[in-house]
Amino acid sequence: MIVAIDGPAGAGKSTVAKILARKLGFLYIDTGAMYRAITLKALENNTDIHDENKVYELALNSRIDLCNNADGSLSVFLDNRDVSSDIRQVRITRFVSDVSKIKGVRQVLVKMQREMGQKGDCVLEGRDIGTVVFPDAQKKFFIDASAQVRASRRFKELKGLNQDVAEDEVAKDLSNRDKIDSSRKVSPLRKAIDAIYIDTTELSIEQVVEKMLKLCK
Ligand code: DC
Repeated sequence: MIVAIDGPAGAGKSTVAKILARKLGFLYIDTGAMYRAITLKALENNTDIHDENKVYELALNSRIDLCNNADGSLSVFLDNRDVSSDIRQVRITRFVSDVSKIKGVRQVLVKMQREMGQKGDCVLEGRDIGTVVFPDAQKKFFIDASAQVRASRRFKELKGLNQDVAEDEVAKDLSNRDKIDSSRKVSPLRKAIDAIYIDTTELSIEQVVEKMLKLCK
């Protein structure tokens, strides 16, 4: 069974997707982490991220592995190197929307995601899972929240990771990413017609997971 979870940044997708996957005994696949890994590689290699062919080639020659750890965390490996914390850096967040709008990069990563998803039951989280990656997913959710709540959640999350950021900068970055992610030509962020819309603005994590769990069972 495939559970597809899409929605904008900071809506709480990762948190609920991880818990839901654990409760269902499914594999958890964070597709945003894969776009972040390619962005990290491009920046480390000094590749011009606006040179679409170069970034596409780089993605084509990359290996990405996602490992579900026993404690519920996810480890991300890029070419066999653990990049789990590197991909959360502010500089990656700043450029990831530019990398993820490149058609070739999306083709490469969507192929990898389909291969990962075909291995068994899983919860995939991203922006285009229900619309493009697995349009036939048995269960689709679109997780949303007000812009203000999303910015405040993301700010707290970054603080927890000891990252030195200002809340208004986080809000600005989020709104900028929303704009790029929703307006790009290839696979823009969009709710699939058959996805269940959940507004988490006033809900706790437990309430959201409970709701999703009931709908999955
Ligand atoms: O979920 P996240 O913030 O880690 O995602 C990082 C970026 O990757 C986000 O700005 C949009 C992009 N992304 C995408 O285009 N398609 C996906 N399936 C997942 C993420």
